[in-house]
Amino acid sequence: MTRRRAGGGRLNFVPVPRTPQLSAAGRALAWALSFSPMKKKIALAVLVLFAAVQFIRPERNSGSVAGPHFIGAKKPVPANVAKVLQRACYDCHSNYTVYPWYAGIQPVGWWLAAHVKDGRRHFNLSEYTTYNDKRAGKKLDEVVKELKEGGMPLPSYTWAHPEARLSADDQRLLTEWAQEMRKLYPAEPAH
Ligand code: HEC
Repeated sequence: MTRRRAGGGRLNFVPVPRTPQLSAAGRALAWALSFSPMKKKIALAVLVLFAAVQFIRPERNSGSVAGPHFIGAKKPVPANVAKVLQRACYDCHSNYTVYPWYAGIQPVGWWLAAHVKDGRRHFNLSEYTTYNDKRAGKKLDEVVKELKEGGMPLPSYTWAHPEARLSADDQRLLTEWAQEMRKLYPAEPAH
């Protein structure tokens, strides 16, 4: 005797009838109205809180990429390199960020702002010439390392910005540029 496992096999699939008359918003409302009074209160509180936090907007990073301390002031950035940096790095490592529309929705905007702040604190191409030689050289080593390991741009960024993904050619281009720039600073003593 053969026995079928419960739920196994495509043929057991029974389509659940849907109510196509209701829009998504209508369905959400019907769902919310089916809540118990306690749950309704909680849902309302969440909604009010969500509305309230919309007014707490993080400051935007809206300076200019190529200000007086831009890395290009040390040595001009070749146009093809600048293009890749623009696509993949400037949003988090320069003084100008192009924000997506959803940056206007909190708490997403806070989360983005934290990333931009953290990225710029570690490495800011727009403030690069303010770094001392040791730091400037080290940052370039870090760029090479990040590119080699595929750590940058952050995966959470390429997920939302597929155009920022680096091809092997882009990686090579940025790496060679960083290595060229690195020569302008004293080499780190070997440990
Ligand atoms: C979504 C924002 C974001 C993007 C885009 C991004 N980074 Fe970063 N980057 C960060 C954050 C945040 C850190 C600090 C935390 C960490 O290392 O993960 C960082 C760290 C770094 C560091 C290390 C600096 C240090 O002192 O350790 C380097 C180098 C770097 N990024 C280079 C790049 C390059 C090159 C690109 C473009 C190819 C890029 N990043 C794109 C956010 C970003």
